Amino acid sequence: MGYSIAIDGPAGAGKSTIAKMVAKQKQFIYIDTGAMYRAMALYLLRNKIDPKEQDKISDKCKDADITIEYANGEQVVFLNGENVNALIRTEEVGNMASTSSVNADVRKQLVELQQKLAKSADVVMDGRDIGTCVLPGADVKVYLTADSRVRAKRRFEELTKKGEPCDLDKIEQDIIERDERDMNREISPLRQAEDAVLIDSSAMTIEEVAQTILNLCD
Ligand code: DC
Repeated sequence: MGYSIAIDGPAGAGKSTIAKMVAKQKQFIYIDTGAMYRAMALYLLRNKIDPKEQDKISDKCKDADITIEYANGEQVVFLNGENVNALIRTEEVGNMASTSSVNADVRKQLVELQQKLAKSADVVMDGRDIGTCVLPGADVKVYLTADSRVRAKRRFEELTKKGEPCDLDKIEQDIIERDERDMNREISPLRQAEDAVLIDSSAMTIEEVAQTILNLCD
């Protein structure tokens, strides 16, 4: 087992940005578990599976071979051999990922992959259930959160920068709904592990959050 840093928290708290910075500093591998749930969601969407049909999800997910590689320090997700990195960042895929990730078979398959990766290297892993379920013995555990309005504003700015039209209230509403679903599902809901350190990034810069986590490692 390598050294592991687990970062959990709700959508838009800044987990991936922070996790990437910490990984770079420590020269660890960054593992984005949300991307795996997104790749699975893409597969289910392509196969026109209704998110309400849990039996079909359980059946179909076995045919999705999800693997991870690294190119120039960036994680690349493959779905049955196809690089799907550029296809999984849409709201549609994100919402399907939140819905299909309640499925026990989907979780089992992806958690196995995540645990295997953490065995072979020093990692910073982010997600919803890393400290509670995937790596309960992680060396450092962080629960990173921020006010929903602040998270919506960050997302709004990101989309606006990309030139995508969007509405702040609608984004916040989606964030609240996603939190609801992620926190209230039966299996591995999003919650702070007992031994995780709570960081509220609402009034912090990215650098401050990353430094706080680096200090926890020392
Ligand atoms: O972090 P993200 O937005 O890329 O994650 C997409 C969805 O995947 C999220 O709404 C819930 C699910 N997810 C999960 O259930 N467990 C994880 N460890 C990571 C993501």
